[in-house]
Amino acid sequence: MKRIAVMGTGYVGLVSGTCFAEIGNQVTCCDIDEGKIQRLNEGIIPIYEPGLEEVVKRNIKEERLTFTTDIPSAIRDAEIVYIGVGTPMAESGEADLTFVKNVAKTIGENLNGYKVIVNKSTVPVGTGKLVQSIIKEHSTGNVEFDVVSNPEFLREGSALEDTMNMERAVIGATSDKAANIIKEIHEPFNTTIISTNLESAEMIKYAANAFLATKISFINDIANICERVGADVTKVAEGMGLDSRIGAKFLQAGIGYGGSCFPKDTRALIHIAEQVDYDFKMMKAVINTNEYQKMKVVTKLKDIISELKGKTIAVLGLAFKPNTDDMRDAPSLEIIPALLKEGAKIQAFDPIAKEAARLHFGDAISYHTDVYETLTNADVCVILTEWKDVLELDLNKVHSLLSKPVIVDGRNCFDLKEAEAANLIYHSIGRPEVNS
Ligand code: UGA
Repeated sequence: MKRIAVMGTGYVGLVSGTCFAEIGNQVTCCDIDEGKIQRLNEGIIPIYEPGLEEVVKRNIKEERLTFTTDIPSAIRDAEIVYIGVGTPMAESGEADLTFVKNVAKTIGENLNGYKVIVNKSTVPVGTGKLVQSIIKEHSTGNVEFDVVSNPEFLREGSALEDTMNMERAVIGATSDKAANIIKEIHEPFNTTIISTNLESAEMIKYAANAFLATKISFINDIANICERVGADVTKVAEGMGLDSRIGAKFLQAGIGYGGSCFPKDTRALIHIAEQVDYDFKMMKAVINTNEYQKMKVVTKLKDIISELKGKTIAVLGLAFKPNTDDMRDAPSLEIIPALLKEGAKIQAFDPIAKEAARLHFGDAISYHTDVYETLTNADVCVILTEWKDVLELDLNKVHSLLSKPVIVDGRNCFDLKEAEAANLIYHSIGRPEVNS
């Protein structure tokens, strides 16, 4: 059992803090937002994440997990301090390290004995060393400490499962003593440990996200070629993915990647490269493809019904992916304004992200949590997120509800034969058009 303080109660801090408590540690999660901390102490979770509430409540009850705004006390009481604060994207594409630097300063000011300071936020290469120097600058006396980089690989929507069953733990450390302490707390996770230096650990996080984004843009480019040559990208991806050197995951063509990580981290990596005079051309191409891909559903819809003005469009899915209410960089944020600009009326479905979406679209669209209600009185349908309710749609019923039986599917949710049998005009990504 270790005493751990976690700085920041966003996705990374809250989920990893909760999981460290779940495996038996004494964890204090800290945030400067008093309202958030008060709600967390009552077991109210600020994010939608399947299963998280139950585990948070259980660990609060069993007194392994507490939440506080008293950051100095939490730091002083801890043996290990995790930094899990946000690193938003600055105007330049660079990661904004304001929160990380502030936390490092507070840690320095409260360093009252040997501690391991662990960075879990996604930070540019060199930040570990920067944290080290800020702590040194603000600490009084000659108190020993070590800095470790232990990046997070969880996905939103399956964060708890990803953390409890982590595929690997990357531990970049400045000393064996610190590396061993962090290895020890990972033992109950029974995972593969990669030990390295600070810089490599920081790079692994960016390289992993950038590679996954590359896989998505690659398959989307292939999808666009498939459409022109009469191939089916889902079969192409299946055929490629069976090669174990390629792997089947992250080869789902669609309307591009969104969320709080890939768009930000790909840009940050270009910036990191520029800092060392390297032009990361491939990453720029990955981003360009992603931008192009988002608008594909709009161009496809305009190809089918040339005039969108006055048409009612049922838009299924607002969040950037299923099982989350996160709207950050969701493709819907660009697609819906483009459809509104064409003069269309939008009836939108999302079971979870309705309120988060309202902050962006206000009263410009109508919001629904019942998928069939969304389709009622609509002319055509556009699919942006592959929610379970969408995947389980009865296509005959969809046909009967739409005034024009048109689906433009940005997530390849349905079998082509199924769409054909339901007499739908069905256009998806990288696959032959049905009944066009
Ligand atoms: C991503 C990574 O998968 C995590 O490993 C990482 O820890 C996290 O970023 C982070 O850095 O914090 P996340 O953004 O939650 O996780 O979501 P993903 O499941 O990776 O999906 C990202 C986007 O890619 C979504 O918009 C999704 O629709 C899209 N995607 C994914 C595709 O278009 N095709 C695919 O085959 C897979």
